[in-house]
Amino acid sequence: MTTKDNVKDQDRVRIFDTTLRDGEQAAGAAMTPDEKLEIAKQLERLGVDIIEAGFAASSPGDMEAIKSIAREVRDSTICSLARANPDDIDAAWEAIKEAAHPRIHTFISASDVHLQHQLHKNREEVLEMAVAAVSRAKSYCEDVEFSPMDATRSDPEFLYAIISAAIDAGATTVNIPDTVGYAIPEEFGELIRSIRENVHNIDKAIISVHCHNDLGQAVANSLAAVKAGARQVEGCINGIGERAGNTALEEVIMSIRTRQQYFETNVAVDTTQIYPTSRMVSEVTNFPVQPNKAIVGLNSFRHASGIHQDGVIKNKTTYEIMDPKSVGWSGESLVLAKLSGRAGLRARLLELGYELDKEELDRVFAAFKELADKKREVTDRDLEALMAEDRRVEDETGYRVEGVSIETGLGRVPTATITMTTPQGETKTERTEGNGPVDAVCKAVVAVIGVRPRLEDYTVRAITGGLDAVGDVTVRLRHENRIYSGRAADTDILVASAKAYTNAMNRMLALDGTEPMDKMPGV
Ligand code: KIV
Ligand code: ZN
Repeated sequence: MTTKDNVKDQDRVRIFDTTLRDGEQAAGAAMTPDEKLEIAKQLERLGVDIIEAGFAASSPGDMEAIKSIAREVRDSTICSLARANPDDIDAAWEAIKEAAHPRIHTFISASDVHLQHQLHKNREEVLEMAVAAVSRAKSYCEDVEFSPMDATRSDPEFLYAIISAAIDAGATTVNIPDTVGYAIPEEFGELIRSIRENVHNIDKAIISVHCHNDLGQAVANSLAAVKAGARQVEGCINGIGERAGNTALEEVIMSIRTRQQYFETNVAVDTTQIYPTSRMVSEVTNFPVQPNKAIVGLNSFRHASGIHQDGVIKNKTTYEIMDPKSVGWSGESLVLAKLSGRAGLRARLLELGYELDKEELDRVFAAFKELADKKREVTDRDLEALMAEDRRVEDETGYRVEGVSIETGLGRVPTATITMTTPQGETKTERTEGNGPVDAVCKAVVAVIGVRPRLEDYTVRAITGGLDAVGDVTVRLRHENRIYSGRAADTDILVASAKAYTNAMNRMLALDGTEPMDKMPGV
């Protein structure tokens, strides 16, 4: 663990987290302002240098979310995105002006393909807009970042010109986005070197990189850029983001930390907060992390083969290049079952990064006992599902499922009866038929709430193996051109289905009225 104080300021790589802005642009990852604040506080604990908290001009909800993050998160720099126009810059400043360390990040496309087909402007006009935007941002705050969008498909000569004009206008960070994930590591590193050689005033700004993962190269491209002299990397926790996602920040952080000598630089974050941050982002967005995902996947530090186990028992460094504890990962060494007590549960939850007050512990302990009665062993994944469920129930001010019963069988029409409480505290019961029991239960939820979104995707997976497994259900609903996701876990998959469907509907009702990103011109 290294703090900002013992990593020389000029040399270190700044970590710029855009989970709350570009991460949220992933289809189905919309977050409420409260969820964003919770993640921002965790990112502050992780020690990221900059948090891009949102895009202030995109919706009143985003404006409010950025404002509350700017007020409450004091260690990290708080940044808002803004297109290169006066209204966006003014909105960005309005959102971040109370931050201890505010930053405005303004951008405009630089590639001919974007200029011709999207902006309908020539290079001179775009350069003027970039300079005007940076100057206006600079009139509000010292810390200004400029991004020439689609840099990797832009004419390098125009790129040098627009970057140097932005620095003359006051940009303190220049970010090179691989907007469509087109670059290949060697080539991207070369681009950063050429910018250092050809932009005459580049020493007045920090070079940042922002990579998308369309060809699966986002982390490799970012690291090639660091080797070539970039000193800020942008990305998202778990690599979420638009299309195939953004650079996975945890992979960049641990690559630089583990191979400091190769990179000749370091990062100043508390790496032990990586795993709790990853879990929180996964729970809030309902995007599961694949088991073999580097650094934060369930299997990242588990050894299965006999030869590996033998080596690790003799000396961990035989097959481990990182100490699992250094990323906040703790293995499933403690077996929890129905005879376990409150202290054992609390200790295990603490190791997993959940600090509970007495009331929360009482609630989770009761749910744990109920589960332990049905299962031989309660694993870490079960506990994470219990915690996700508890936080969801706690946070939900919307509809709540109180009872589900199903009649089904060979030759019978599946029928579901559901009882729910409304946000106003009334109890409603509906009975509906369906093509199958899941269909019937989802129709019953729709009948209670009275809005009919389209079901885009329904997934059920067993969190743990065996006939007593907990079923984890994820649904994605489409309503008026936006996607809302919901997730719930229960040993009864029909109960989990009803709860996941209701969770998605509650998000839809809470977020209704915010403008979808894809409707905004110039994005
Ligand atoms: O991918 C991109 O180009 C962006 C910019 C707004 C930096 O997200
Ligand atoms: Zn992006």
